[in-house]
Formats: sequence, C-alpha cells, structure tokens
Amino acid sequence: MSDTNVPGEPSEASWPEYLSGGSSGHGGHSQGSQAEGSQAEGSQAEGPAAPRRVIGTPPPAAARTMLPAAEGDGGKALARELPAEPDDPARAKKAERLVAACFLLAMLAGLGFLVAYSIIGVGSITSVLHSNLALGGTLSLVFLLLGVGTVIWVRHLMPNVELTEQRHPMRSEPADRAAFKQTFTEGAEASQFVKRPLVRRSLIAATVPLALAPLFLLRDLGPLPALSLDRTVWRKGLRLIVYGTGRPITAAEFSSPGSIISVGPEGYLDNDNDMAKAAVIIIKFRPGQLRFTTANHAVPDKVVENWTIDNIVAYSKICTHLGCPAALYEQTTHHILCPCHQSTFDATQGAKVIFGPATRPLPQLPIGVDSDGFLVATGPFHEPVGPSFWERS
Ligand code: FES
Repeated sequence: MSDTNVPGEPSEASWPEYLSGGSSGHGGHSQGSQAEGSQAEGSQAEGPAAPRRVIGTPPPAAARTMLPAAEGDGGKALARELPAEPDDPARAKKAERLVAACFLLAMLAGLGFLVAYSIIGVGSITSVLHSNLALGGTLSLVFLLLGVGTVIWVRHLMPNVELTEQRHPMRSEPADRAAFKQTFTEGAEASQFVKRPLVRRSLIAATVPLALAPLFLLRDLGPLPALSLDRTVWRKGLRLIVYGTGRPITAAEFSSPGSIISVGPEGYLDNDNDMAKAAVIIIKFRPGQLRFTTANHAVPDKVVENWTIDNIVAYSKICTHLGCPAALYEQTTHHILCPCHQSTFDATQGAKVIFGPATRPLPQLPIGVDSDGFLVATGPFHEPVGPSFWERS
C-alpha cells in the first residue's frame, strides 16, 4: 500500500482499469474517464500501486482477475502463482451452471422462508408445528444449497494448487520500537500519573472496592451447603411412599420378582428440595439372586443383608455420576441404567458400577417393615447420595 493512502480510501491510481475507464472493450466505463486515467498513470509513476478495491461485479473477460498486476522489486511482473482459468473449460462451464442453480434455488428457499414467516400464524399448537416445519425446512434448504454450491465452486472452478506464504519477522523495526518507547514515556510524563502521587494513589484507592465487589457478589449464590448435601431426610421409621399413588406399600404387595418401584420418604414427596436427594428405587428379587454380605455396613460388590426385607432391596435413585435419576431397569440382567451417560449398576451386587462414567455404587438404603407390614427405612443412608464430589466436599 502506498504510504500516502488513508486506510480504506484507496487512491484513484488503485482502481482497476475497468473502473477507471482505461480498459478497452468496456465503452460504458471508458467515457469521460480519460482525465482520470491519465491522473492514475501519474500516480502510479510516483510509487507502488495500492491494493485495488472493486465495487460491484467486475466485467467479464478482460478483467478476469480483481488483483493488481504483481510487481517484483525491479518493476517486473512476477510469475503467476495461480492459473487464471480452469484446466477444462467445458467442465468448468458445467460446474458454473450447477453452482448458479444451487445459489438460485437457495435464493428461492430463502424467499420461501420469508413467505412462511409472514403467512403461517402461531395461534395454535398445530400452526406452530407447521410454522416450525416450514421455517426449519426452508432455512435448512438455504444452507444446504449454499453449501453444495460452494463445494462445487471450490472443487471444479477454483485451481487445485497449494500455496505457501512466507513468514516475516513479527518483531517491529528498531526505529518503530524506539518511537513507541518515546511516545509512551512522553505520554506517561504528560499524564502526570508518575509526578503526582496524590492523584495516582487516590485512583488506585478508588478502584480497590471495584476489585473486591465480585467477592461480595458471591453471596448471591446463596448460603454454603455445609453438610446438607451429605444427608437426606431418610431416617428410621419413615415409610416408603410409592410415586404416583402416594401410598405406602407392604412387602406382601411388592411380591413379584423383577419389579421395580420408585418411592420417596413419607411426608416429603411434595418437597422438591428434599426429594432431589431422597428419591429411592426398590427392586424385588428371587431368593438366591442377591449377593449378600452379613456386615452391617456397605461392602463393595455386596448387598447388605440386614438392610433388605424379603429380597427387596432399596437403592438411591440419584446417579453417582452427575445426579440424573437412574431408574431404567433390565429385568433379565438386573442392571440399573442411568439414561444420561449410560452408567450401569448391577443391582444384585450392591449396585456396583459395571459400565459408564460413575465411579461408585448407588448407596443402599436400609429397609424393613413396621408393625403394620409397611416398608420403612430402618436408618438413613450410610454414605452421601448422588455425585461423588458431594462426598468430597
Ligand atoms: S448422570 Fe448418570 S451416567 Fe451421568
């Protein structure tokens, strides 16, 4: 670019010939432009040509390229790096028509989008469905056709060559660096920031509260969870209430092996905060299917026998990966599946993880029956439920 050019305002000498009127064969552009053409010649003689700006679609044929003629140090034109025309003109013509067809169809699809937006109302669910279908369909078509047209353009019209751009040193020239240093130093002095400590210090003091403000805004995140994430509302004597019916259930009622039911603690089913941690699934097994331990605490790969009743076992429904409800159950394999990231737990082996990103079993809830025969918790969970990071908090 010429040193005298203002960025974005190329000199008259930079216009391509077909704009400045110097090109032959474009009578419409050449009229009344000879004076400008001679002016352009004069400007070009003074210095290197600036990159040319082209407004609108260039005329074909004579001005195939929008780039200025490249010149070497000695004023000689450099050898072309890119071929001006495709190798196979007949094939290129065909591709050109295809590209144009794609772009025109994209334009029609775009108009269809506008029309659909204008005429399809959204007053009912059905009309919303129709509107979404029409808008989504036309918009997808626009992008699809633009993409297809562009791919054909690139593959069949543009040259298939590899160009290497030479890298230049990023470091500025010593003169530029010295000029920047001088400007910076003079600016610092002129601003009086260094010479007037009262202004400087009071400015720093004024910004300190702003820097501390984010710490105070953290309070808006609410109180710290403390131990609330480690515990649930389950405690000894709370009945297991079936989701949906809202009724307690007896061991006798839950008698068919392979069944699974989601339950919650009595009195808390409507409390979303508590239920977020306290949701439980109970599963009925045939005798001999569960792998028991007689220990009175959680044991890897085992179901604590004292925490079951009539081969009914209760597990937390909150996935230990990221907390999704894990309640998909494969009756034949006894696998509990979490739909979010496919963690899989073996219900016969203490809900140990057999697949997926979860790293620890679903905690087992100790259960028994009360004097009326209803299933009840015989104690709280013995470990935190849900994602493992809660446990480490
Ligand atoms: S939340 Fe269950 S697998 Fe991720």
